[in-house]
Amino acid sequence: MEEMVNVYFYGKKYQVPAALTIQTAMEYAGYTLTRGVGCRHGFCGACACIYRIKGHNELKTGLACTTKVQEGMYITQIPYFPTDKRTYDINDLQANQKVMMELYPEIYSCIGCNACTKACPQSLNTMQYIAYAQRGDIKKCAEESFDCIMCGTCSVRCPAGISHPMVGLLARRLNGKYIEPEAKHLTKRVEEINNGEFDSAMADMMAKSIDEVKDLYNNREIEK
Ligand code: SF4
Ligand code: SF4
Ligand code: FES
Repeated sequence: MEEMVNVYFYGKKYQVPAALTIQTAMEYAGYTLTRGVGCRHGFCGACACIYRIKGHNELKTGLACTTKVQEGMYITQIPYFPTDKRTYDINDLQANQKVMMELYPEIYSCIGCNACTKACPQSLNTMQYIAYAQRGDIKKCAEESFDCIMCGTCSVRCPAGISHPMVGLLARRLNGKYIEPEAKHLTKRVEEINNGEFDSAMADMMAKSIDEVKDLYNNREIEK
């Protein structure tokens, strides 16, 4: 007999196999996921969820696609969290502390509670990358936030209203543009694209059937 557990999706009780993830358990329970699902393997950040185990006061966070169900789990998904991305032209900025002060001044309201770090399904030291941003250490902020999947779970928990993934994104963009050496092969490829060198290949691809595209993908040349 398969082991079953009782879980609650949006407050409604379901019995689901204990071996399932939150995502597959939702599908087992009959939900068709059109939001809050993407890669299904912990990379895209689309499936953030919040849960609490019955009888425990701690509010937990995780990705629905990688977190297993547990007995007494009360779950809600947060497929979209309204983070606050400021508008800027990266060409007008400089990689220094002033840019963070101007675009994301709320980072200086951090109270050091570490709730963001505890919430991160990627186990990033989120509080630390915000601290690097405060100091204007763009490179370290970029490196520390490098594996951020933009799920927004940290921002859900932040009492200071900080949009951490957007701060990390700005740092990585500044790092890529102004601090790391230019990737010449990328510049060259962008020029080739802008010169239309791939237009006919793209048109050919768009004209193919799904099966032909799958075949091309499965037999593609993989760079060593
Ligand atoms: S830093 Fe925040 S947005 Fe990025 S992966 Fe962690 S919780 Fe998600
Ligand atoms: S949750 Fe917000 S206030 Fe708390 S440490 Fe993280 S950034 Fe600072
Ligand atoms: S579906 Fe992409 S991270 Fe879960």
